Amino acid sequence: MCSMCRLSECVGLLIFGANAVVFFSLVCARWVAVGVVGVAVRHSRARGAVESIDMYASENPHRYDGLLRSRVEAARYWKNFNYAHVPCWLDCDPGHDDAFAMYAAGWGNWRDDNGAIVATFELMGVSTVAGNQTIEKTTYNAARVLKWLNLDEIVPLIEGASKPLLREAKVCEEIHGESGLDTRDAIDALPGVSDRVFQNMKQKHAVVAVEIFEMWKKLYEMDERLVIVATGPLTNIATFCLTYGQIISQITHGQSHTKGPKIVFMGGAIEKGNTGSRAEFNIQCDPEAAKIVLESLFEVIMVPLEVTHTALVTADVLRRLQNASIVRAYRKRVGQITELLDFFKMTYQRVFGFQHPPLHDPCAVWCALTEHVETLKQDAFTGDIERVDVECLSQLTYGQTVLDCWGTSTKPKNVKVMKRMNVEWFWKFMCGAIREHSEQCESYQYYQ
Ligand code: BDR
Ligand code: CA
Repeated sequence: MCSMCRLSECVGLLIFGANAVVFFSLVCARWVAVGVVGVAVRHSRARGAVESIDMYASENPHRYDGLLRSRVEAARYWKNFNYAHVPCWLDCDPGHDDAFAMYAAGWGNWRDDNGAIVATFELMGVSTVAGNQTIEKTTYNAARVLKWLNLDEIVPLIEGASKPLLREAKVCEEIHGESGLDTRDAIDALPGVSDRVFQNMKQKHAVVAVEIFEMWKKLYEMDERLVIVATGPLTNIATFCLTYGQIISQITHGQSHTKGPKIVFMGGAIEKGNTGSRAEFNIQCDPEAAKIVLESLFEVIMVPLEVTHTALVTADVLRRLQNASIVRAYRKRVGQITELLDFFKMTYQRVFGFQHPPLHDPCAVWCALTEHVETLKQDAFTGDIERVDVECLSQLTYGQTVLDCWGTSTKPKNVKVMKRMNVEWFWKFMCGAIREHSEQCESYQYYQ
């Protein structure tokens, strides 16, 4: 080969080599870029995007901060706001109406006529209990709902009791279906979570009573008061009362009633029950637990069937809830809300002959908020402090909440029993929670 040919061969090889280098660099760069973008997208998706935006963080430090312990740290900022923050722990058994209670506690607030926030919830933690379905299913459902609400990386989830204190567990499949969150066509309305994500979401080895106590204590040291909202059987809350009643009494120098956690529960009935003729489902599942809670030293508020049966999802209410969930970029939520409520309506029609289903559990959440707002407290609910006992012995009526309606009991009055609710305000609150979430989703382009 002549030197010219060799030279051109070398040049050719060099060009080929350079091209190959460029080609491989481009390929690598592309994959690196894809990786970076992918991580960034996954990151922003996983964190609900809202967390990574400084503006949101400065406006909402309370929602920004992370899990269990750091939720409390965020409480230090609350005093800088000119509206009330209501720290809330939700113990639930999702359940269709529990899912809406999570919505209300996670995104609910109250605005004045000018649209300014007067009070907002701070959802400090969610715990689950066996009730509407087995504990495995209610916990899994709570995880799905938290994810659906973009709260999965913000609000800790703790699995609680798998059965009542003394009795066998029973479920409420006839109303909530096999999964606990069924839809009419057996299509899952809510996105699932993979087993790995689910296991990560549950706080490992955490005990509900311990976590509620720790949360209450830290808030107490900051002069804030935790409210526990219970929308399932009271098993976890009874365990908390038994374990920490005495200790909290010591810490508060005998003022558990005003300084211990306030307990607001959905359950019980003044007259007619919904599980048999006298008892309400949550109380009938674990009557002994209810007795312990009602006889504790804490302030207890009962939101019974007489109140929750006025929160009916009529066609007009459904339209308002749907409208609240519509945002330009995100329409799927409308369908999800509709499917959940549609199934609930179907089972309530079949089992109880109700034309419209009562959305029980969020009523207790709303009650917890109104208790903290002077302008709402008087008019949102009316109720009286009563003596309430729980029937634990009878075969026929166990789980009945028995009110001392003639005032003949020698025992002290122990529970504030709500008797009426301003239903219009309740729906305004519910629509507000849904709208708040939808707007945050849109503002921060969060899609799932
Ligand atoms: C209660 O029972 C459950 O089925 C609902 O979730 C609600 O908490 C109503 O009786
Ligand atoms: Ca419930």
